[in-house]
Amino acid sequence: MSRLFERVKVRDVEMRNRTVVSPMCMYSAVDGKLTDFHLAHLGRFAMGGAGLIFVEATGVSEEGRITHGDSGLWNDEQMEPLKRIVALLKSMGATPGIQLAHAGRKASCHRPWEGDGPILESDKKPGEDPWQTYSSSAIPWADGWHTPKAMDEKDMEKVRNDFLAAAKRALACGFEVVEMHNAHGYLLQSYLSPIANQRNDQYGGSLENRMRFPLSVAKVLRDFWPKEKPMFVRISSVDGIEGGFTIEEAVTYAKELKKLGVDVIDCSSGGQPGKMNLRSALGYQVPFSREIKHGADIKTMAVGFIIDAHQANKIVEEESADFIALAREALNDPQWFFHAEQELGQAPEGNPYEEWPVQSAFWLEKRKKTLDRLTAAVN
Ligand SMILES: Cc1cc2nc3c(=O)[nH]c(=O)nc-3n(C[C@H](O)[C@H](O)[C@H](O)COP(=O)(O)O)c2cc1C
Repeated sequence: MSRLFERVKVRDVEMRNRTVVSPMCMYSAVDGKLTDFHLAHLGRFAMGGAGLIFVEATGVSEEGRITHGDSGLWNDEQMEPLKRIVALLKSMGATPGIQLAHAGRKASCHRPWEGDGPILESDKKPGEDPWQTYSSSAIPWADGWHTPKAMDEKDMEKVRNDFLAAAKRALACGFEVVEMHNAHGYLLQSYLSPIANQRNDQYGGSLENRMRFPLSVAKVLRDFWPKEKPMFVRISSVDGIEGGFTIEEAVTYAKELKKLGVDVIDCSSGGQPGKMNLRSALGYQVPFSREIKHGADIKTMAVGFIIDAHQANKIVEEESADFIALAREALNDPQWFFHAEQELGQAPEGNPYEEWPVQSAFWLEKRKKTLDRLTAAVN
C-alpha cells in the first residue's frame, strides 16, 4: 500500500488519496463567472482519480483579480457555475477545494497569452479597462507597472470583509476545503515580503509586523470556515531573493497560522521581482515543505515539478509532505492519478481499472485481457 494513495482525513473531510490538483488560473472566466470550459477542465481530473481538486485563484473582489478573465466570488451570480463544478467533482469521488485570492499590485494585467504585464490605456481591449491596484506599499511590481495604493486601515478592513463574503459563498457552493492565497507576490504576500513591504507602521518592518495583516485575514477565514472543514494557506516559503522573506520566517509564520487553526501549509515560493537564487529542478520546493512541516509541526503540501508516481510517493514516505500537488503535469495527463496508482502497483488486483469510471473501465479491462493474450501469442 503506497502512502500516496491511502485515504486521508483532515478534520471531518476524508479524501480518497493524498494527490491534489494545484490551483491553476485559466484566465477564461466571463465577469468572474466560470464556464463549461472550467467544468470540463476540472472534471477531467476528478475522472482521472485526483484526491483534492482546487478551483483556480478566485478573486474576492473585482480589483483583486489578476486579469479580466479571472474567476471571482464577489457576487451571487458567480456561484451557479461553481455549484455545478462542486457537484461534478463530488459525484466522481474527488474533494472540491477553492483558492481565494487578491492579486494586489500584480492585478490589472493582460491574460498571459495576450501579452501578460499591466493593462495600459494604450493597449487595452474594448471593455477591459485597467483599474487601481493595492499593495502594502505604493511601489510598482516592476518598471511600467501600475503604482498600487498603499493600503490604509479601511482598505484592509474591506479586504478582510471581501475574503469573508467570498468564503460564505464558497461554503454555500459546497466546497469542502478553502485555501487562502498568500503567495507569489500577490496582496497578502506583499505584506510578508520585506521587498514589497516598505511600511514603517505596525504592518511593516519586523516579521511580527509584516505578519499582522495576513494573519488577520487568516483569522477571519478560519473563524468562519466550519470547524469540520480544512483550511489551507499557500505561502511563498521564500522570496528567493537577497534580502527577501526567508524559510526561517516561513516556519515562524506557519506556527502562527497553526495557532489560528490552519490545517495545511501549501509550500510554494517566489513572486517578488529581482534576481532569484532558486534553481528550478524536479521537486525543488520539497525541502521547504519538509522544513515547514517539521519546524512548525503542521501538515504541508509539496508542489513544483513533481511529475512521477515514485517521486511523489517518496516525498510522502520520507515525511516531507502530507499532500502532493500537481499543476502542469496534471494538464499533461489528467489521468495521472489513476496511472500513478497503477505504476505504484496499488491498483486493484485482477482489474487495474476497477476505480476508473465504469464507462471506461469496462472497455479497458477487456482491452487489457486481449492485449495480454496477443502479447503472449507473439512471445
Ligand atoms: C496555468 C497555471 C496557472 C496557475 N495558477 C495558479 C493559481 O491560480 N494559484 C496559485 O497559487 N498558483 C497557480 N499556479 C502555480 C501552480 O499551482 C503550481 O504551484 C506551479 O505550477 C508548480 O507546480 P507544477 O510544477 O506541477 O506545475 C499556476 C500554474 C500554472 C501552470
